Amino acid sequence: MKNFTLITGASQGFGKSLAIEYAKKEMNLVLVALPNSGLYALSEFLKSNFQIDVLFFEMDLSSKTNCMRLYRAIKEKGISIKYLINNAGMLSKGLFENMNEDYFLAQINVNVATPTLLTKLFMDDFKENAPSGILNVSSMASFFHLPKKQVYGGTKAYLLSFSKSLRKELKPHRISVSIVCPGGMNTTIGLCVQNRKLDWVSRQSIMNPEDVAKITITEFEKGKEVIIPGSVNKTFMFLDAILPTAIKSRLTSNAI
Ligand SMILES: NC(=O)c1ccc[n+]([C@@H]2O[C@H](COP(=O)([O-])OP(=O)(O)OC[C@H]3O[C@@H](n4cnc5c(N)ncnc54)[C@H](OP(=O)(O)O)[C@@H]3O)[C@@H](O)[C@H]2O)c1
Repeated sequence: MKNFTLITGASQGFGKSLAIEYAKKEMNLVLVALPNSGLYALSEFLKSNFQIDVLFFEMDLSSKTNCMRLYRAIKEKGISIKYLINNAGMLSKGLFENMNEDYFLAQINVNVATPTLLTKLFMDDFKENAPSGILNVSSMASFFHLPKKQVYGGTKAYLLSFSKSLRKELKPHRISVSIVCPGGMNTTIGLCVQNRKLDWVSRQSIMNPEDVAKITITEFEKGKEVIIPGSVNKTFMFLDAILPTAIKSRLTSNAI
């Protein structure tokens, strides 16, 4: 049976960059994103440029039913998953008081429930294919408590905690669990515009998803627990460890 890497949210942004990097490594891929998001074109491009098999599934992963459907569809094709990359995510949407409840409930599903459920569903695959691995995509927002990123930051902090605990449980099975915490990336058009308006210091931390994907896969292969891409983000982590809480609170409140 052929081994595959399953990447959620692979149609654009960071997920697409991860898919291209894995294709360069000649890994067979299963890609998932919402319907009509260009997965067919991406799959054809990857198949014709690299010697790999690529399957894609267009579905909304905010529901448990669809996660189960995805699992069954993969099994019906006789595919075994060696690496799972839980990348699909819904980004932040401003002040909490203005947020639509349907949005943040779906956000919690996609960012928290779905990666947890997919990890559980494919556990037998990871065991059969060991050494194998799970990469969860969190964010620098999991460390810093930023206004306008309340629910988002909470979901990403969950992923950090979940991954660190699970890593200990799965180590004896030779299943590696890593978590990547990117800072700002120029992925969507909206984010590119927003990132250009940031102050000078914050702008220095913004990275391209292609560069973040290369760093992430290299570190994931080394079995690193928490991956912080880029020297500016690493500096933020260092400052977080040494600065007094009052100063940090003033700096992070500026984001409002
Ligand atoms: N961009 C940043 O600054 C940044 C920073 C730190 C961490 N991250 C994290 O990196 C990951 C990717 O972010 P990105 O900026 O690349 O986002 P993006 O460009 O908006 O891409 C998100 C991906 O997730 C998919 N997706 C969203 N909701 C889905 C759903 N309900 N069902 C199935 N697929 C769904 C999207 O599919 P469609 O194309 O079909 O919509 C898309 O492929 C996220 O987990 C995000 O939290 C991003």
